Amino acid sequence: MQGKVCVVTGASAGIGFITARELVRQGARVIGVGRSPERCEAAARRIREETGSRAIEYLIADLSSQADIRRLASEIRAKVPRLDVLVNNAGGIFLTRQTTVDGLELTFALNHLAYFLLTNLLLDHLKANAPARIVCVASAAHRGVRLEFDDLNGEKRYSPWRAYQRSKLANLLFVRELARRLDSSGVTVNALHPGYVKTEIFRADGIRGWILRRAAELFAITPERGAETSIYLAVSPDVEGVSGKYFDRKRPIETSSAARDDEAAKRLWHVSEELTSASGQSS
Ligand SMILES: NC(=O)c1ccc[n+]([C@@H]2O[C@H](COP(=O)([O-])OP(=O)(O)OC[C@H]3O[C@@H](n4cnc5c(N)ncnc54)[C@H](OP(=O)(O)O)[C@@H]3O)[C@@H](O)[C@H]2O)c1
Repeated sequence: MQGKVCVVTGASAGIGFITARELVRQGARVIGVGRSPERCEAAARRIREETGSRAIEYLIADLSSQADIRRLASEIRAKVPRLDVLVNNAGGIFLTRQTTVDGLELTFALNHLAYFLLTNLLLDHLKANAPARIVCVASAAHRGVRLEFDDLNGEKRYSPWRAYQRSKLANLLFVRELARRLDSSGVTVNALHPGYVKTEIFRADGIRGWILRRAAELFAITPERGAETSIYLAVSPDVEGVSGKYFDRKRPIETSSAARDDEAAKRLWHVSEELTSASGQSS
């Protein structure tokens, strides 16, 4: 990874932090993205201490805000002349329905639309530098749901887990359609399930939080192990030229049938374009 430039979103904690740290350890220059200056500064300090490298910096953006994503993409383009790897990782589960500054349901906006918009805004930078890679952290949680196109914003009913599941299905439909659009461009895009990982995603108040944390302590893997497939997809020569796949424990596996629905993938792309006013840079 010497000389390569990588962007990792949600790099202030959990799987994204380890992904950023290990890419730095392997010689890459890494731009981490997070929303809290304090947490990002602490993460940068830790990575410098733990790797002995200074090839890490953080840019601050709230990825639930489309204006912030646009500013972030401009800052990245201004900062680096080329981009080799984009890891879309930032995400969350929200116990109550919340809306973003753009008036969108937070889970859908952060977990899906941020991947969609940031990727599209950086696509020319990746294409100009092909071969380049896009890695999207999805989840096995995508199984058992379909997208409800008449209620993507969760206005009719909101369930935290259902909203999360649908956002992760959206990740896979996005990867499917993007891989089709990027065919022969030299830019690959793949998704992954990191495993059940002990991270801050399970933060919640009260008894619900206690149960979630206790279960994670008992059954979840470490963030180090959880980041292994993200890192593999970002760096390994084994997946050179491989695109449009979904990996678990570094192996390609089948997605749910809903995630293989080409019509839904195209429809989601068009809806996402409308919701973000993204110029479709890939045809
Ligand atoms: N943990 C699991 O078992 C598991 C399983 C399957 C899939 N995943 C996926 O793995 C990815 C990483 O999750 P994790 O488990 O590592 O969670 P985490 O420990 O909560 O880390 C999430 C990261 O995203 C950042 N983030 C959250 N909201 C943001 C926003 N609005 N703007 C910018 N950054 C934001 C967080 O920043 P702060 O430091 O400011 O909070 C943090 O850096 C997610 O896509 C998740 O869906 C996780």
